[in-house]
Amino acid sequence: MDYFDQVEEAAGFIRQRAGTPDVAIVLGSGLGDFANTLTGAVSFPYADLPHWPASRVVGHEGRLAIGLMAGQRVAALSGRAHYYEGHDLRTVTFATRVMGRLGVKVVILTNAAGGITVSLTPGTLMLIDDHINLLGSNPLVGPNDDRFGPRFPDMTEVYSRRLRGLAASAAQALGIAIGHGVYVALHGPSYETPAEIRYLRTIGADAVGMSTVPEAIVARQMGVDVLGISCISNAAAGVLPQPLDHKEVMEVARRVRGTFASLLGGILERL
Ligand code: HPA
Repeated sequence: MDYFDQVEEAAGFIRQRAGTPDVAIVLGSGLGDFANTLTGAVSFPYADLPHWPASRVVGHEGRLAIGLMAGQRVAALSGRAHYYEGHDLRTVTFATRVMGRLGVKVVILTNAAGGITVSLTPGTLMLIDDHINLLGSNPLVGPNDDRFGPRFPDMTEVYSRRLRGLAASAAQALGIAIGHGVYVALHGPSYETPAEIRYLRTIGADAVGMSTVPEAIVARQMGVDVLGISCISNAAAGVLPQPLDHKEVMEVARRVRGTFASLLGGILERL
Protein backbone atom coordinates (compact mmCIF):
# COMPACT_ATOMS: atom_id res chain seq x y z
CA MET A 1 0.00 0.00 0.00
CA ASP A 2 1.49 3.37 -0.85
CA TYR A 3 2.05 6.08 1.73
CA PHE A 4 -0.83 8.28 0.56
CA ASP A 5 -3.27 5.36 0.86
CA GLN A 6 -1.99 4.57 4.37
CA VAL A 7 -2.60 8.18 5.37
CA GLU A 8 -6.10 8.05 3.85
CA GLU A 9 -6.91 4.81 5.62
CA ALA A 10 -5.92 6.26 9.01
CA ALA A 11 -7.88 9.45 8.26
CA GLY A 12 -10.95 7.42 7.25
CA PHE A 13 -10.73 5.33 10.42
CA ILE A 14 -10.66 8.46 12.60
CA ARG A 15 -13.35 10.32 10.62
CA GLN A 16 -15.76 7.40 10.94
CA ARG A 17 -15.37 7.17 14.73
CA ALA A 18 -14.76 10.76 15.83
CA GLY A 19 -15.74 13.07 12.97
CA THR A 20 -13.53 15.79 11.57
CA PRO A 21 -11.45 18.04 13.83
CA ASP A 22 -10.90 21.76 13.10
CA VAL A 23 -7.57 22.03 14.90
CA ALA A 24 -4.80 19.56 15.73
CA ILE A 25 -2.48 20.07 18.68
CA VAL A 26 0.69 18.02 19.00
CA LEU A 27 1.67 17.88 22.66
CA GLY A 28 5.39 17.70 23.38
CA SER A 29 7.32 16.15 26.28
CA GLY A 30 5.44 16.41 29.58
CA LEU A 31 2.51 18.32 28.06
CA GLY A 32 0.36 15.32 27.13
CA ASP A 33 -2.33 15.74 29.73
CA PHE A 34 -3.91 18.69 28.02
CA ALA A 35 -5.80 15.97 26.10
CA ASN A 36 -7.73 15.13 29.31
CA THR A 37 -9.29 18.59 29.38
CA LEU A 38 -11.29 18.11 26.15
CA THR A 39 -15.06 17.72 26.48
CA GLY A 40 -16.79 14.59 25.18
CA ALA A 41 -13.54 13.21 23.84
CA VAL A 42 -13.20 10.06 21.79
CA SER A 43 -9.76 8.63 22.36
CA PHE A 44 -7.53 6.20 20.49
CA PRO A 45 -4.27 4.62 21.64
CA TYR A 46 -1.84 5.01 18.73
CA ALA A 47 -1.57 1.23 18.56
CA ASP A 48 -5.25 1.06 17.48
CA LEU A 49 -4.82 3.46 14.55
CA PRO A 50 -3.92 1.96 11.16
CA HIS A 51 -0.26 2.47 10.11
CA TRP A 52 0.30 4.87 13.03
CA PRO A 53 3.87 4.93 14.40
CA ALA A 54 4.37 4.37 18.12
CA SER A 55 6.36 6.85 20.21
CA ARG A 56 8.43 5.10 22.80
CA VAL A 57 9.92 8.12 24.52
CA VAL A 58 9.34 8.53 28.26
CA GLY A 59 6.92 11.41 28.74
CA HIS A 60 5.07 10.72 25.50
CA GLU A 61 1.88 8.82 26.05
CA GLY A 62 0.84 7.71 22.56
CA ARG A 63 -2.81 8.64 22.32
CA LEU A 64 -5.07 10.69 20.06
CA ALA A 65 -8.09 12.36 21.68
CA ILE A 66 -10.71 14.26 19.71
CA GLY A 67 -13.11 16.45 21.64
CA LEU A 68 -14.39 19.97 22.16
CA MET A 69 -12.72 23.00 23.63
CA ALA A 70 -13.76 26.64 23.26
CA GLY A 71 -16.20 25.73 20.50
CA GLN A 72 -13.53 24.02 18.40
CA ARG A 73 -13.24 20.33 17.60
CA VAL A 74 -9.71 19.61 18.72
CA ALA A 75 -7.52 16.62 17.93
CA ALA A 76 -4.93 16.37 20.71
CA LEU A 77 -1.96 14.16 19.95
CA SER A 78 -0.16 13.12 23.11
CA GLY A 79 3.17 11.92 21.85
CA ARG A 80 4.92 12.06 18.50
CA ALA A 81 7.41 9.95 16.60
CA HIS A 82 10.92 11.44 16.55
CA TYR A 83 13.66 11.19 13.96
CA TYR A 84 16.14 10.11 16.66
CA GLU A 85 14.05 7.01 17.39
CA GLY A 86 15.20 5.73 14.00
CA HIS A 87 11.97 6.48 12.11
CA ASP A 88 12.35 8.06 8.69
CA LEU A 89 10.88 11.53 8.29
CA ARG A 90 7.81 10.22 6.42
CA THR A 91 6.98 8.14 9.48
CA VAL A 92 7.72 11.10 11.77
CA THR A 93 5.21 13.22 9.81
CA PHE A 94 2.55 10.53 9.32
CA ALA A 95 0.24 11.98 12.02
CA THR A 96 0.52 15.48 10.54
CA ARG A 97 -0.33 14.11 7.10
CA VAL A 98 -3.41 12.40 8.56
CA MET A 99 -4.50 15.63 10.26
CA GLY A 100 -4.06 17.53 6.99
CA ARG A 101 -6.11 14.96 5.06
CA LEU A 102 -8.80 15.10 7.78
CA GLY A 103 -9.13 18.76 6.84
CA VAL A 104 -7.76 20.58 9.87
CA LYS A 105 -7.07 24.23 9.06
CA VAL A 106 -4.62 24.80 11.92
CA VAL A 107 -1.92 22.68 13.51
CA ILE A 108 -0.44 23.78 16.83
CA LEU A 109 2.96 22.16 17.39
CA THR A 110 4.36 22.21 20.89
CA ASN A 111 7.68 20.97 22.20
CA ALA A 112 10.21 21.22 24.97
CA ALA A 113 13.34 23.09 23.93
CA GLY A 114 16.64 24.30 25.30
CA GLY A 115 17.02 28.06 25.67
CA ILE A 116 19.99 29.49 23.77
CA THR A 117 19.07 33.16 24.17
CA VAL A 118 19.66 34.00 27.84
CA SER A 119 16.26 35.67 28.34
CA LEU A 120 14.62 32.34 27.47
CA THR A 121 14.89 30.85 30.95
CA PRO A 122 13.38 27.49 32.00
CA GLY A 123 9.61 27.69 32.24
CA THR A 124 9.27 30.39 29.55
CA LEU A 125 6.87 29.74 26.69
CA MET A 126 8.26 30.83 23.32
CA LEU A 127 6.26 31.46 20.16
CA ILE A 128 8.22 30.10 17.22
CA ASP A 129 8.75 32.88 14.67
CA ASP A 130 10.74 30.75 12.25
CA HIS A 131 12.93 27.68 12.19
CA ILE A 132 16.28 26.38 11.03
CA ASN A 133 16.32 22.78 9.84
CA LEU A 134 19.57 21.08 10.89
CA LEU A 135 18.10 17.58 10.97
CA GLY A 136 20.24 16.67 7.99
CA SER A 137 17.18 15.74 5.92
CA ASN A 138 13.74 16.95 4.92
CA PRO A 139 10.41 15.11 5.15
CA LEU A 140 9.68 15.91 1.48
CA VAL A 141 12.72 14.00 0.18
CA GLY A 142 11.72 11.32 -2.32
CA PRO A 143 9.15 11.20 -5.11
CA ASN A 144 6.55 13.94 -4.61
CA ASP A 145 2.90 12.95 -4.28
CA ASP A 146 1.02 15.94 -5.71
CA ARG A 147 -2.09 14.92 -3.76
CA PHE A 148 -0.32 16.22 -0.65
CA GLY A 149 1.04 19.40 -2.19
CA PRO A 150 3.72 20.92 -4.43
CA ARG A 151 7.27 19.64 -4.96
CA PHE A 152 8.88 22.91 -3.85
CA PRO A 153 6.61 24.49 -1.25
CA ASP A 154 7.24 28.05 -0.13
CA MET A 155 8.63 28.38 3.41
CA THR A 156 8.60 32.18 3.75
CA GLU A 157 6.03 32.12 6.54
CA VAL A 158 5.99 28.64 8.06
CA TYR A 159 4.59 29.92 11.37
CA SER A 160 1.52 31.98 10.56
CA ARG A 161 1.86 35.65 11.44
CA ARG A 162 -1.89 35.78 12.14
CA LEU A 163 -1.71 32.84 14.56
CA ARG A 164 1.34 34.28 16.31
CA GLY A 165 -0.50 37.57 16.79
CA LEU A 166 -3.52 35.80 18.14
CA ALA A 167 -1.38 33.72 20.52
CA ALA A 168 0.39 36.85 21.75
CA SER A 169 -2.92 38.56 22.48
CA ALA A 170 -4.24 35.45 24.26
CA ALA A 171 -1.07 35.43 26.40
CA GLN A 172 -1.43 39.12 27.19
CA ALA A 173 -5.09 38.77 28.17
CA LEU A 174 -4.17 35.89 30.49
CA GLY A 175 -1.16 37.67 31.99
CA ILE A 176 1.23 35.01 30.67
CA ALA A 177 4.70 36.34 29.83
CA ILE A 178 5.74 34.88 26.51
CA GLY A 179 8.92 35.03 24.44
CA HIS A 180 9.46 34.52 20.76
CA GLY A 181 12.30 33.41 18.59
CA VAL A 182 13.84 31.02 16.10
CA TYR A 183 13.74 27.28 16.80
CA VAL A 184 16.50 25.08 15.46
CA ALA A 185 15.94 21.33 15.08
CA LEU A 186 18.85 18.92 15.44
CA HIS A 187 18.80 15.18 14.94
CA GLY A 188 19.72 14.29 18.54
CA PRO A 189 19.27 12.23 20.64
CA SER A 190 22.39 13.42 22.45
CA TYR A 191 22.08 16.97 23.67
CA GLU A 192 24.36 19.57 22.12
CA THR A 193 27.88 20.43 23.15
CA PRO A 194 28.60 23.97 24.39
CA ALA A 195 30.52 24.60 21.13
CA GLU A 196 27.47 23.56 19.12
CA ILE A 197 25.29 25.92 21.16
CA ARG A 198 27.70 28.81 20.44
CA TYR A 199 27.49 27.91 16.75
CA LEU A 200 23.67 27.76 16.87
CA ARG A 201 23.53 31.17 18.55
CA THR A 202 25.78 32.59 15.83
CA ILE A 203 23.50 31.34 13.05
CA GLY A 204 20.45 32.96 14.63
CA ALA A 205 18.80 30.30 16.77
CA ASP A 206 17.10 31.17 20.07
CA ALA A 207 15.97 27.69 21.14
CA VAL A 208 17.01 24.16 20.24
CA GLY A 209 15.08 20.91 20.05
CA MET A 210 14.66 17.63 18.19
CA SER A 211 11.16 17.83 16.73
CA THR A 212 8.51 20.13 15.23
CA VAL A 213 10.35 21.18 12.05
CA PRO A 214 9.39 18.08 9.97
CA GLU A 215 5.74 18.42 10.98
CA ALA A 216 5.74 22.15 10.24
CA ILE A 217 7.20 21.56 6.76
CA VAL A 218 4.60 18.96 5.72
CA ALA A 219 1.75 20.99 7.23
CA ARG A 220 2.78 23.99 5.11
CA GLN A 221 3.10 21.80 2.04
CA MET A 222 -0.54 20.78 2.60
CA GLY A 223 -1.63 24.40 3.08
CA VAL A 224 -2.34 23.98 6.81
CA ASP A 225 -1.55 27.00 9.01
CA VAL A 226 1.01 26.34 11.73
CA LEU A 227 1.52 27.76 15.19
CA GLY A 228 4.60 26.58 17.10
CA ILE A 229 5.11 26.96 20.84
CA SER A 230 8.22 25.84 22.72
CA CYS A 231 8.28 25.31 26.43
CA ILE A 232 11.83 26.26 27.38
CA SER A 233 12.69 23.40 29.70
CA ASN A 234 16.38 24.08 30.32
CA ALA A 235 19.21 26.42 29.50
CA ALA A 236 21.03 24.96 26.47
CA ALA A 237 24.36 23.22 27.05
CA GLY A 238 27.11 25.49 28.33
CA VAL A 239 24.78 28.43 29.04
CA LEU A 240 24.90 27.45 32.73
CA PRO A 241 27.69 25.50 34.44
CA GLN A 242 25.60 22.33 34.83
CA PRO A 243 24.81 19.21 32.80
CA LEU A 244 21.46 18.59 31.05
CA ASP A 245 19.07 15.90 32.12
CA HIS A 246 15.87 14.60 30.45
CA LYS A 247 14.26 14.40 33.92
CA GLU A 248 14.73 18.15 34.34
CA VAL A 249 13.21 18.72 30.90
CA MET A 250 10.15 16.71 31.94
CA GLU A 251 9.83 18.39 35.33
CA VAL A 252 9.87 21.91 33.91
CA ALA A 253 7.33 20.93 31.25
CA ARG A 254 5.09 19.51 33.98
CA ARG A 255 5.48 22.65 36.07
CA VAL A 256 4.21 24.89 33.28
CA ARG A 257 1.53 22.59 31.94
CA GLY A 258 -1.26 24.54 33.69
CA THR A 259 -0.08 27.80 32.11
CA PHE A 260 0.38 26.05 28.79
CA ALA A 261 -3.16 24.65 28.95
CA SER A 262 -4.69 28.07 29.68
CA LEU A 263 -2.71 29.62 26.84
CA LEU A 264 -3.94 26.90 24.46
CA GLY A 265 -7.50 27.54 25.67
CA GLY A 266 -7.11 31.28 25.03
CA ILE A 267 -5.75 30.60 21.55
CA LEU A 268 -8.62 28.25 20.69
CA GLU A 269 -11.14 30.89 21.80
CA ARG A 270 -9.61 33.36 19.37
CA LEU A 271 -9.37 31.08 16.33
N1 HPA B 1 18.51 20.45 23.32
C1 HPA B 1 17.83 19.72 22.43
N2 HPA B 1 16.59 19.33 22.62
C2 HPA B 1 15.99 19.68 23.76
C3 HPA B 1 16.64 20.43 24.75
C4 HPA B 1 17.97 20.85 24.51
O1 HPA B 1 18.62 21.52 25.33
N3 HPA B 1 15.77 20.60 25.77
C5 HPA B 1 14.62 19.98 25.41
N4 HPA B 1 14.75 19.42 24.20
